[in-house]
Amino acid sequence: MRRELIAGNWKMYKTQKETKAFFDNNLALFSQNDKDVVFFVPFTDLNQAVQSVEKSNIEIGAQNVHFENEGAYTGEISCEMLKETGAKYVLIGHSERRKYFGETDQMVNKKLKAVLNAGLCPIICVGEQLSARQSGEYLEVIKNQVFNAVEGVALDERTAIAYEPVWAIGTGKNASSMQAEEVCSFVRGLISEISKKASEKIRILYGGSVNPNNIKDIMKMKNIDGVLVGGASLKPDFVKIVQYDKQ
Ligand code: PGA
Repeated sequence: MRRELIAGNWKMYKTQKETKAFFDNNLALFSQNDKDVVFFVPFTDLNQAVQSVEKSNIEIGAQNVHFENEGAYTGEISCEMLKETGAKYVLIGHSERRKYFGETDQMVNKKLKAVLNAGLCPIICVGEQLSARQSGEYLEVIKNQVFNAVEGVALDERTAIAYEPVWAIGTGKNASSMQAEEVCSFVRGLISEISKKASEKIRILYGGSVNPNNIKDIMKMKNIDGVLVGGASLKPDFVKIVQYDKQ
């Protein structure tokens, strides 16, 4: 059985002060769950967030990392630096990083290797643009992204893959549960071509306009083990997504 993983991606929102206030006010509620719950916070909030959730079953992750251990890479952060904060998870290849910061599949692959070597848990993000969805080429796009990302990597249960169609991110237009399941099951099939065992263990998430109203339908799908939530994870109402099975 794969343990459910519900992740919030705060993107470039919340200062340290706001992070502290969020957890001071809501941690008790969020802790009432039997899933893996992770908040991906801005780098500057990591220490505060880790400290805030210390006595709970909530984990903290970073939204990006550099693949080298150290060096002259102005503005970058290494896995060791992340580990020292107490962060356990790292997002890799989010579509906003690909779009605005030129992140390529090759960089995603290097980051994945670095994160696994450091003993952290990666969530690799993949997803097609609207044009690929409309032209029907979306599975081809996903296939390339997944195979490029995991090339030469021995995958284990620490790795998760999030299917986040770009047209569904921040748009309020989520993929239907059937559309999400089609791609998530396709991704599991791709991983099984590399390792059957890994394909049974790794968690595959859906992301893109997940909210308290659509979460139940999404989580009913056989190959969807969790969700990656952006906008809706900034508010206390995120607890309705985390505890979707109790509503
Ligand atoms: P959204 O973002 O939930 O606001 O659509 C998802 C994401 O970017 O991970």
